[in-house]
Amino acid sequence: MADGNVLLDVSGVSRSFGDVRALDDVSIQIRENEFFALLGPSGCGKTTLLRVIAGFEQPDAGTVTLDGVDLLPIPPEKRAVNLMFQSYALFPHMTVERNVSYGLVCEKLPRDEIRTRVDEVLQTVGLTDKRSALPRELSGGQRQRVALARAIVKRPRLLLLDEPLSALDRKIRGEMQMELKRLQHEVGITFVVVTHDQDEAMSLADRVAVMDQGVVRQLDAPLDLYRRPRSIFVADFIGSSTILRGSYSGGAWQSPGLGAIPAGPDCADALAVALRPESLALLPPGDAAAIRRGTVQEVYFQGDHALALVSVGEVSFKANVRDDELPTRGSDVGVAWDTSAVIPLFEE
Ligand SMILES: Nc1ncnc2c1ncn2[C@@H]1O[C@H](COP(=O)(O)OP(=O)(O)O)[C@@H](O)[C@H]1O
Ligand SMILES: [Mg+2]
Repeated sequence: MADGNVLLDVSGVSRSFGDVRALDDVSIQIRENEFFALLGPSGCGKTTLLRVIAGFEQPDAGTVTLDGVDLLPIPPEKRAVNLMFQSYALFPHMTVERNVSYGLVCEKLPRDEIRTRVDEVLQTVGLTDKRSALPRELSGGQRQRVALARAIVKRPRLLLLDEPLSALDRKIRGEMQMELKRLQHEVGITFVVVTHDQDEAMSLADRVAVMDQGVVRQLDAPLDLYRRPRSIFVADFIGSSTILRGSYSGGAWQSPGLGAIPAGPDCADALAVALRPESLALLPPGDAAAIRRGTVQEVYFQGDHALALVSVGEVSFKANVRDDELPTRGSDVGVAWDTSAVIPLFEE
């Protein structure tokens, strides 16, 4: 968990490439020992931000400080920051041990120290018995660990990881996510992980910045992002929601095609409202508690539950249903929710 001291302060950073504003007035403070995630769709500026922090890119405007010291005049190799690239490459002809020690050898550290640090880090990532192996003799997950070891062994204050798990298949990815989290706790380095995978960001990070077209749309702890998205973009990007545009009047949410539906006064200034699928209940069509009646369009099995798409007029509601209560396609159902589950959204 984060200790609270600000380690990295990115303030008002912008960077354009021709007409593309890759970063548009980005401000983010990252705390000591924090596990921080940058989340957003492809092309939203995540890699550019990491490159600015690491020193491979200069911003057009703004400041970046680490421990209060201006980073911008400092060349990348002199910053206490390490960037693990999206397409990291191990040296194919070098053993695990030499891949990991390479950076320290380049820094001309004493041999004994290199030895100790490499031993330690191989232990941390669980590759001690693979120290003499070549990269091609390792699995994808093991190669990933070597890349991590290589980054950690240099003991940066800040480790930047650009889509570190995107090359791995789903199962190994899940394992490596747990591994990354454990590692971060163990080595006590501040991590910034870039991902376009919302589940990954939400499960790994202490806080998440959601980016869209060069702009930070929201920066919060995962639970707050999920429960209180402020914009249609964030509500839609994180989890899946039914989003209803409209306006609040007469103590209810007036949504085109649906009419007045119950919602609390916190929706008074909203542009739209969101309903999470777990907040919707499907009832028998004649049930007195049903707010609207609809037809089940599709049912998607998800493992421990299923997601039902229910059309009510032109609106498609998403509702979680239990495995043992799967509705049939085409059946009529009632839809109900609690007023307190209606999430107001104030921006596009
Ligand atoms: N060196 C560059 N030259 C021109 N355009 C670039 C360059 N780097 C990034 N961009 C553009 O900036 C935007 C953000 O890119 P990037 O930071 O790589 O996004 P992400 O990592 O979120 O996918 C994209 O539109 C991309 O095409
Ligand atoms: Mg990228």
